[in-house]
Amino acid sequence: MKVLVVGGAGYIGSHMVKMLLDAGYEVVTLDNLVAGYRDAVLGGEFIYGDIADYVMLNHLFSLHHFDAVMHFASHIQVGESVRDPAKYYRNNVTNTQNLLDAMVAQGIRHFIFSSSAAIFGEPHYTPVDEAHPKIPINPYGHSKLMVEQILADYDRAYGLTSVCLRYFNAAGAHPDCLLGERHNPETHLIPLILQVASGRREAVSVFGRDYPTADGTCIRDYIHIMDLCQAHLHALEQLMHGGTSAAYNLGNGDGFSVQQVINEARKVTGRKIKIIDAPRREGDPAELVADSTLAQKKLGWLPCYAELETIIRHAWQWECKQLGSHQSQD
Ligand code: UFG
Repeated sequence: MKVLVVGGAGYIGSHMVKMLLDAGYEVVTLDNLVAGYRDAVLGGEFIYGDIADYVMLNHLFSLHHFDAVMHFASHIQVGESVRDPAKYYRNNVTNTQNLLDAMVAQGIRHFIFSSSAAIFGEPHYTPVDEAHPKIPINPYGHSKLMVEQILADYDRAYGLTSVCLRYFNAAGAHPDCLLGERHNPETHLIPLILQVASGRREAVSVFGRDYPTADGTCIRDYIHIMDLCQAHLHALEQLMHGGTSAAYNLGNGDGFSVQQVINEARKVTGRKIKIIDAPRREGDPAELVADSTLAQKKLGWLPCYAELETIIRHAWQWECKQLGSHQSQD
């Protein structure tokens, strides 16, 4: 079985490539290296390219006989999407449609899509299940929901089957420390905290202590990157065995506040982690926790690394490795 992983040099994509290879798949990675790293692609063929290029995609699909495409290449910063929506709609929607059109033209029938909890907007209730109203509150969330809508129409019209996986907060790193998170700039809570613990950063800001939660800080559902990828693997296998299109929320169903994450990171690392109280970040809901019952039932998926301690420990191993390589470059 041969799979194209678009965005396979990025954080989630690179873990997926490794997992597919380990599961015996033939893998080709397509990445424009805008946010990814060539050395994060640990095997298979690598192609440098951009899904904005329809001619290249057509050529690629006529050269290889892919059984499925997994798509991880999108811009992910909510705040930036508000300031520069064109960037988000262009890449996340228009370019994704290019990819889908080239797939349809060449008869590739299965697609796995990285969607996001951001499609739900402000939660009306918690935990958030698949039936929750989908009212995004920023262009990033809109861009993900638009693709979900396109996919539903492409299934009806062209028989392209897809699984949309709505990530809550992806975190952690490969348990053997082969891969991890390397965003530039880094905006995610856990890597930022760990950069403070390792001394790469002075302090981490806590965005708001006046939320209606027990300690006043925002609550999120952190899901280990390996568990996230495992769900993709199950979804892929289901589609390839005749499964129908579907969409699933992926999280652990357990919420942790920003303060709890910092406390846990202090325990795991044994380091002091300096925090600075800062105002709320625009667009942050107080609490975002997934109900992943449907994914568990339909995909036969169960998280293996559900403990926050494990998620942080793996991310910490990766941060220490990163710190070593940064220091050796100095
Ligand atoms: N936070 C801080 N300080 C920081 C960074 C984050 O207090 O320096 C807080 C945020 O306010 C939030 C929590 O930590 O309450 C988690 O923030 P992240 O930026 O790590 O993650 P988000 O929940 O904002 O974002 C995630 C995904 C996005 C996706 C979004 C869906 O990373 O891609 O969920 O709502 F869009």
